[in-house]
Order: sequence, then structure tokens, then C-alpha cells
Amino acid sequence: MEALTHLFVFYSFLFSLLRTSISLDTITPSQSIRDGGSALVSAGGQFQLGFFSPGNPDSRYVGIWYTVSTDIVVWVANREAPLSDHSGVLKLADDGVLVLLNSTNGTVWSSRSTTSTTPQNPVAQLLDTGNLAVKDGNDDKPEKFLWQSFDYPCDTLLPEMKLGWNFVTGLERFLSSWKSTDDPAQGEFSVRIDLQGYPQLVVKEGSKIKARAGSWNGINPAGRRLRSDPLLKYEFVFNDQEAYCEYKILNTSVFYNVVLNPSGLVQRFGWMGRRQSWDLFATFPADRCESYTLCGADATCDFNKSPICACLEGFFPKSPKDWDSVDWSDGCVRRTPLECNDGDGFLKRTGLKLPDTSSSWYNKSMSLKECEGMCLKNCSCTAYANLDVRGGGSGCLLWFDSLVDIRELGEPGQDLYIRMAATELADYLEKKRRSGKKKLVAIIVGSTLLVVGMTIVALVSYIWKKKLRNQGTTKRSRRKDYDNEGGKEDMELPIFDLVVIANATDNFSNNNKLGEGGFGPVYKGILPGIGDIAVKRLSKNSRQGLNEFKNEVILIAKLQHRNLVKLLGCCIQENENMLIYEYMPNKSLDSFIFDQANSKVLDWHKRINIIRGIAKGLLYLHEDSRLRIIHRDLKASNILLDNNMNPKISDFGLAKSFGGDQVDSKTNRIIGTYGYMSPEYMVHGRYSVKSDVFSFGVLVLEILSGKKNRGFHHPDHHHNLIGHAWKLWIEDKPMELIDEFVDNLCALSSVLRHIHVGLLCVQQRPEDRPNMSSVVQMLSSENLLPKPKQPGFLSDSPEADSSSSKHETCSANTITNTVFEAR
Ligand SMILES: *[C@@H]1O[C@H](CO)[C@@H](O)[C@H](O)[C@H]1NC(C)=O
Ligand SMILES: *[C@@H]1O[C@H](CO)[C@@H](O)[C@H](O)[C@H]1NC(C)=O
Ligand SMILES: *[C@@H]1O[C@H](CO)[C@@H](O)[C@H](O)[C@H]1NC(C)=O
Ligand SMILES: *[C@@H]1O[C@H](CO)[C@@H](O)[C@H](O)[C@H]1NC(C)=O
Ligand SMILES: *[C@@H]1O[C@H](CO)[C@@H](O)[C@H](O)[C@H]1NC(C)=O
Repeated sequence: MEALTHLFVFYSFLFSLLRTSISLDTITPSQSIRDGGSALVSAGGQFQLGFFSPGNPDSRYVGIWYTVSTDIVVWVANREAPLSDHSGVLKLADDGVLVLLNSTNGTVWSSRSTTSTTPQNPVAQLLDTGNLAVKDGNDDKPEKFLWQSFDYPCDTLLPEMKLGWNFVTGLERFLSSWKSTDDPAQGEFSVRIDLQGYPQLVVKEGSKIKARAGSWNGINPAGRRLRSDPLLKYEFVFNDQEAYCEYKILNTSVFYNVVLNPSGLVQRFGWMGRRQSWDLFATFPADRCESYTLCGADATCDFNKSPICACLEGFFPKSPKDWDSVDWSDGCVRRTPLECNDGDGFLKRTGLKLPDTSSSWYNKSMSLKECEGMCLKNCSCTAYANLDVRGGGSGCLLWFDSLVDIRELGEPGQDLYIRMAATELADYLEKKRRSGKKKLVAIIVGSTLLVVGMTIVALVSYIWKKKLRNQGTTKRSRRKDYDNEGGKEDMELPIFDLVVIANATDNFSNNNKLGEGGFGPVYKGILPGIGDIAVKRLSKNSRQGLNEFKNEVILIAKLQHRNLVKLLGCCIQENENMLIYEYMPNKSLDSFIFDQANSKVLDWHKRINIIRGIAKGLLYLHEDSRLRIIHRDLKASNILLDNNMNPKISDFGLAKSFGGDQVDSKTNRIIGTYGYMSPEYMVHGRYSVKSDVFSFGVLVLEILSGKKNRGFHHPDHHHNLIGHAWKLWIEDKPMELIDEFVDNLCALSSVLRHIHVGLLCVQQRPEDRPNMSSVVQMLSSENLLPKPKQPGFLSDSPEADSSSSKHETCSANTITNTVFEAR
């Protein structure tokens, strides 16, 4: 985005060179538009058409832009075929076809006409809507236009432009991104109306759906809350002839547009006349729940919950292990199979973004009741809903097979009736009742058993419960297993025998010793059937009790993510407490980035991969794991690298599990490592997830620069690495931060973005720092980033030693301090 701004400044300049004296809004066959000569200006002065160069000044395009601002080029004629010099001419041929000719009179681009009639008196006119239309004489009816640019959109949707299908002519109008900010050729992203099932608005990357705004429910696309704006009017038309959406502006002196940018984001801009700039009003996709099928089948996404994905009622994760390690892609499966016919009922869920309609069936005139009957009749029908929510609802949408891409939307969301086996439904009701929730969800059970009052519901569920008990317990016990999963008593962490571990480590021989941490030594070992392991042997004089140790082990065992070191088991025997981890052959990150020889191994892509991996692991600890963990000692030596140089966060020793509601805590004992500790933690003992974000920021700067924050030396100043990075940033030469050994620096904007994110993370005030989910998003998108404020700790704090954790080694409740420092 920043690069965009620069470019815009650049070609604003170019445009100023070709301001024209003549302002016409039409050309006839005897006239032409020459590069460097004249331009077309719409009658009301809103839009201009002319030649421009978005990047290379010798690549010339014909385009349309706003008179007030050249920042947004709304349409490009020859997007795939730039002219290579400034001698292009745009002409209207006698047959009413617009042609763009090069210096040798070769046709570089021409307007394909959809009609075959030869016009008497063709004219091309730039209209005040931004539409370039070829007409016959003064016939101003849009349906009579011989050709119009609105039928061939590029990346910008203007008011009154139709996005969608004309079934009569077979024309599809869709937005397609530019390849890059300086190449208008068609890129990989598109916004279109997908006609499979019931039509819906989607953003695609190639042929794959990337995000789904959803089908039209009469007011909105089903998945989006369009901000009501008195000046805007949205419309969706779907009949035998057409399927399209459009929006209209009720005051033509206000400028709005929707742009699909080169990285696949749909952005809505409005022109702020007073400030003479475009304001970004909305972006889609806006959050993680809007990535298509993030949660897999039969699950919902709720951005305000942690974890954000949850199975629908009556479903459980298909791959519980993956699910718990926040890989939700396998989705959920039914606990109780549908019985079909009268044996099934429907659970009503409210406030949802309706599922993907690509495998749906619809009827515009059916009532909800008829819709339900229709669904019950077909065994593969899994849900139904109203098509149109206006006036109490009308029409029928049916889904078959699994339901995908549902999210909790709250108030603007819709009702969805999900099919369930009657036994499951009864059970659900019973549970709901027992949990004291009086707000019983209305359910409708099989058309033969329409349940109205609560008493009947209770009665029916009682009967079903009894039936179920008689049927045997297989279904119930399956369900129970899952419900209990996560309970301490069910922990399935392997306990290893001391003899086995002693054998594996050659009786804890010195040759096998990897290092010595605060609480005891770490050994390398080989376990038959498992392979290489790392054994953390906690010293015998540790005062930690057995229960505390167990609790800590359980805590760590529950954390599973591909960017966390995996705990394989433990050993508690004869005064020995040991933790067994997977072995990381590549040791820790500090042995690479701070080492002249090793750092050459880490090219730019590896460094980015490491930064993203750490961010994802930390995001998991903070937000997605069931426990919410603050690491409290994130540093380069606590990041281990696997065979493929993927980072794994280790040593949750200082991690404290804190309840979901507790966000900030105060401690009197400062534990951590100087150089990585945030100001509020070091000075006031306050820690929160934002303290980890600070440490993460330091890590990012260290990974980019190959220098340690603490102990950084520079001939010109006394700052630490943070201070140095900040100085370079405000002096506008941030690239000087980058490690001299990093090669392959092809993506300048990516480098700048990483420095930028690093600086945002080390800002002085914790509330200014982004949380990890924002960080992950910032690292992977091209959205505009906020300006960083001054960081905390521009120079080293006075204490001389590098880690204060050693003072604390005797304290009982930090036993896992020592967890793992394989080196
Ligand atoms: C291109 O066409 C114009 C007008 O028809 C003519 O004057 C000019 O000589 C042609 N140029 C070339 C290179 O053929
Ligand atoms: C002009 O366009 C024609 C047809 O596309 C092409 O063959 C010719 O090489 C072009 N001439 C120049 C100077 O680019
Ligand atoms: C349209 O907007 C302009 C600028 O905001 C305002 O001055 C004008 O009064 C508006 N016209 C109508 C009809 O609302
Ligand atoms: C839609 O439902 C109405 C009312 O039930 C029915 O008359 C009509 O035939 C249905 N249309 C289709 C295409 O099934
Ligand atoms: C159920 O619906 C599916 C999808 O529309 C259809 O293919 C199938 O034939 C239907 N089955 C019956 C029994 O109507």
C-alpha cells in the first residue's frame, strides 16, 4: 500500500504533464485522442480519459480516472498490451469500434462490439458515471449502447456498474485485480457472482474461493453487514435474464468506489473533499473468520471467541488432535447419524452467516414450513433457511451434505435450521435445560411431531432419553469421551520408566549432555520406536512437589502446535522428575542469527518463515490454545529449529496459564531475560500478552539484523538494537538494518513491512502494541500499517548479567523454568 502511495505521487506528476486545453466528452470517427495531446473529460467534469503510465514511464496505457485525484485509475483499455512509446492514438472507426493504434498503425486494442448492427452515426462518450460508451447518434438508453466500458470492468467497481451475469448475451462482468500496482494486466484475484447453487458473491484466487461475501438475503450479502449509508443503495437482481449486484449513489457529487487490490483485498474508498484524499471505509476479507472454510465442515467461526472455531451442536472434531492444535481444516462430523424421515428434527441457530450455497437448492416462493417439509423428504438435505429475510422472511434455501463457511454474525445474521437425529436433538435440549438456560431454542421436530410448547418438549425428550438408555450406550459414551477430553484425569501423556530413559541416554552420560539449564541438565537420547529425544532432568534438590510438577506437565502437554516444541512424555520415579521432548537437530535460533558462518544459511525466505512461525506459535499460546499462556521468556535461544529450519518455541518454564478473562497480571518477581523484557514488566512487574509481543518485536529486529539487542554496539551512538532500528526508521533509511548476509532481497516492500511490524511490537506503551493475531495478519497482508510510536528501551538497562532467571532457581513455583534449553 505504501508503495502504491509513492507510485500515485509519481504518476500524479505524470498526469500533470498532460493536462489538456481542450475538454471534450465525445469523439467521432473524424477525431482522435493522442498521447500527450488531448484527453476526454466527462460533461460534469468528474472523470477523464487519457494516456498514463503506472510504473515504467515507457509503458503507456489508456485509462479513466477521477479529475479530483489520479490515485485510482478506474478502468484501463489495453491492460494486457501496453504501448511501448508515446505515439499511441485512440480512434473511433467508422463501424463504431474503438481502436488503439501504435506508431506503425498496428491495432494494440479494440472494443469488441456485442451487436452486429452498423451504426449510422457512431460517437464515443465519456459519461459522468465514469462509463465510456459507444452510441449511435444521441441514443442515450444504456440498453442501446453499442459498447460500454462498464461491461468490461478492471479492478474497480463504480456506482451503477453491474457485477454479474447477463444470461441472454452470456456476458459475465467481474472485477479482476491488477498484477501489481504498476502492472494493470489481469492478476490472480477476481470478485464475481458464482452461479453454482444459489448465486453468491465471492473473491477468488485463480479458480479457488478465497472469501465469500455470501448470497443476497434481500438486504445484504448474507455474510456482510453493509454499513447503512443514506447516500448508498445496494441492489441485487436475479431473474431469467440477469444475476447481478450493483450500488447507486444518491448524490453524484460524492465519490465512492470499490477496488480489488493486487493482493486480493476488496476495499471501499470514499473521496474526502476537504482533505483531498481517499478514505478507506471497509476491507474484505476483514478478519480470519472471513477466510473461506477456515473452520472446515459443520463448524462455525466466532472471531470474539478463543479458539475461534467450534463444531456445530451435535458434531465433534473429525481429527481432535489437529483441532486442538488449531488446524481446523478437517472440520467436524456428526455424533449421531441422521435417521432420515421422521426420525430427524431441526435445531434453530440464529445470528449466522449462512453456509456456502454452492451445493444448495432454492425456491423463491416457498414458505418456511414448506421448506422444512422439502428438506425432510430428502435424506441428504442437511439444513434449510429463508431465502429473503425481508418482511418476516420468504423463499427456501436447502443445503445438501456438509455445511461450510458459517460464522457467528450476531444481530445482522440469519436463522438456520440444522438437521439432527431426534435423539441428538432431545439430548441437546436436555443438556440446555439442565444448564439452567431457560432460553430454549425453538425446535421443530419432524413434520409429524411439531413441538410447540416447552412442556411437550420436555415430555418428548424424556421419552427419547429412555429409549436411548434402552438402546445401549454406544452413542452416549462416544460423546462422553469427547466432553471429558481436556479433563485432567483423562490426560494421556506417556509416562516413561526410569530404566528406559537411563538406557536411552547411556545412563545420563556426559557425552550425551546437550547443556545445562537453570534447573538441571538436558541430555540427548534415542528411544526405540520414537527416535531422538531430549531429556530434561530436573535436579533432585528442586523443592517442587509432585503435584505441582504434574500440573505443569499437564499444562505443557496440552499445548500442541507445529511451532511449539512437543512434549513426548515424562518420567516420575525415585525422586527423579524428567520431561521428554522431541529432539531438535538444528539447535536454537541464536546459534544461527548471531553466528557469522551459520547466519549465511538463513536467506530472506527462511528468516520470514521463522518470523511467521514464531508469530503463529505465540498466537496459539495467547489466543487459540485452551489455556491462554504468556510465555514470559521469549528469546532467540528459546526458539529451536527443526530439520527444515521451522521454528519451535521452547521453554514454557515461565509461562503462566491464566484464565480466559484475566488479561493482565502483576508479579513481584521479575523473571525473564534482559534485552527482551518489556518496560512495563521490568519496571513495574506488570505482564500481559503485550509483554510477549514486545519480546517478539525484539526477536524480529534481531532476526532481520543478525545483531543482539542487548550488547549492541555502534560507533555513532549508544543505543541498543531497538534504538538503532528506530533511529534508522525516523531517518528514513530502515534498509540499513538488514543483516549483510541476507541475500535474495528481492521483495523490498516485504522487508520494510517486517521492520515496520517489529517496531510496532516494541512500542513503549503496551496498549499501542498490536496483539499477535493482528501481527500475524499484518505479516501476511499488504494492508496499510499504523505508524509506529517511539519504542521502549532505546538503550540497554543497567543490569549487567544477561538473564535474571538464575536468581529464581530455588523458588518452588517456577520449576519448569528449566524446561528445555537444548544447545
Ligand atoms: C498511419 O495512418 C495515418 C492516417 O491514416 C497515416 O497518415 C500515417 O502515414 C500512417 N503511418 C504509418 C507508419 O503507416
Ligand atoms: C504495432 O502493433 C502491431 C500489431 O500489434 C505490431 O505487429 C507492431 O510490432 C507494433 N509496432 C510497434 C512499433 O510496436
Ligand atoms: C451532495 O453533496 C454535496 C457535497 O457533500 C452537498 O454540498 C450537496 O448539498 C449534496 N446534495 C444533495 C442533493 O444532497
Ligand atoms: C416453488 O414452490 C412453489 C410453491 O410451493 C411451487 O408452486 C413451484 O412449482 C416451486 N418451483 C420450483 C421450481 O420448484
Ligand atoms: C435429494 O437432493 C439431491 C440434491 O438436490 C438430489 O440429487 C437427489 O436426487 C434428491 N433425492 C431425492 C430422494 O429426492
